[in-house]
Amino acid sequence: GGRRSKSSPPVAATIPIIGGLLKFVKGPIIMLAEEYARLGSVFTVKVLTRNVTFLVGPEVSSHFFKAQEADMSQKEVYQFNVPTFGPGVVFDVDYSIRMEQFRFFTEALTVKRLKSYVDFMVEEAELFFSKWGESGEVDLKLEFEHLIILTASRCLLGQEVRNNLFEDVSSLFHELDNGMLPISVLFPYLPIPAHRRRDRARKDLAKIFTTIIRNRKVSGKLQPDMLQAFIDSKYRSLGRSTTEEECTGLLIAALFAGQHTSSITSTWTGAYLMSCKQYMPPVLAEQKAVMQRHGNKLNFDVLSEMDVLHRSMKEALRLHPPLILLLRYCHTDFSVTTREGKTYTIPKDHIVATSPAFANRLPYIYKDPNTFNPDRFAPGREEDTKAGPFSYISFGGGRHGCLGETFAYMQVKTIWSIVLRHFELELISPFPEVDWNAMVVGVKGKVMVRYKRRPLLVD
Ligand code: HEM
Repeated sequence: GGRRSKSSPPVAATIPIIGGLLKFVKGPIIMLAEEYARLGSVFTVKVLTRNVTFLVGPEVSSHFFKAQEADMSQKEVYQFNVPTFGPGVVFDVDYSIRMEQFRFFTEALTVKRLKSYVDFMVEEAELFFSKWGESGEVDLKLEFEHLIILTASRCLLGQEVRNNLFEDVSSLFHELDNGMLPISVLFPYLPIPAHRRRDRARKDLAKIFTTIIRNRKVSGKLQPDMLQAFIDSKYRSLGRSTTEEECTGLLIAALFAGQHTSSITSTWTGAYLMSCKQYMPPVLAEQKAVMQRHGNKLNFDVLSEMDVLHRSMKEALRLHPPLILLLRYCHTDFSVTTREGKTYTIPKDHIVATSPAFANRLPYIYKDPNTFNPDRFAPGREEDTKAGPFSYISFGGGRHGCLGETFAYMQVKTIWSIVLRHFELELISPFPEVDWNAMVVGVKGKVMVRYKRRPLLVD
């Protein structure tokens, strides 16, 4: 429609640089809540020399999700990933190549492939929990971190890493992880020890994967993992296959996208189910019923029938999306109109941001938004879909929506299906708090759980 007004978004009171940044890092959602209450759903925050304009809620954020790359791009704002992912992949390449690489991800995550990944997940999780005792106390958060790196190794990196190189490769990934700090977002090449260790680890990983890939090519044996999918990928525009360096980079990107996000979500899902006790019986009843129908064998199709568990995970992710800020760089002016009918024009060269952590709790979309209630997604109620597209944005949406969503659901549901059927659990530490200081926002401190093995959950 024609736009009548051309006002720019209101600007949040400028805060001293360091203080402002700190305030933001300590609790970005608190800052967003304050500015949202004062200024509404569109406002600009000055960060260092940059204008960051927030679009809160589906009415104003839809352009963010749907825009063409020429209008709104990721490359500038996600550059800090380049030294971690490595050269020649994702944010280090032009958009046309990046699109082909995203196609490689899509092809590595087809249902056919997911089915064999899920078989690996089930095997790994069953083995892992068979090592728990009859009863005991564990830090669930730590347990899930370990399990997810095991399954990720198996599904993504392949059996060479899982069986022979697991210790080496996971400690190198640890160095990559530790080399991605909040300061790295602004200064990815700052010569600090953490960055030096990151760069060394990245080089070592390249060596390891180059050897693995060459050996695979020589042996001619095809493996059912993501590494194989990347090895077999071909660029249409370049008329060539992926290089060993690119396969390594794509695998690192996949691990960074999927590892902490999944383990954090596993932890929150469990914390809520253990604490909000009224939601546990329907989850257990579903486990019984579905598993009985399928002779107690877990796989992709069986997990797909576990709707109650699915909604519990989805609800934990609504309250605690691990990626709390999504960013784009704006190349052309655009206008948005708020629910109240105010139109703002956001000028080019602004960074545009939206926040799953904040938008997922808007009270005009979600009833009692701060309360865990998986039934809000049940048939007939469906608060997220009723409110229209981009109302639930834990996985982003639109042009750059998460490509690993089904993988993530399968991973977390596998874990919880197995844990719930084998153990009775009790949360013995206080309900977890959010650790806002991490790049992938998760749980602060330990999540201590007392478990007791139970007779198999069948009638
Ligand atoms: C993109 C969340 C698991 C692969 C995204 C985005 C979000 C997200 C919010 C959009 C980023 C943006 O718009 O800037 C999550 C969450 C996960 C998860 C919450 C787990 C609970 C995974 C897994 C994989 C994966 C397991 C791969 C195995 C990707 C890829 C993209 C992406 C490749 C980029 C898509 C694009 O830019 O076109 N994810 N993710 N994610 N995710 Fe995930």
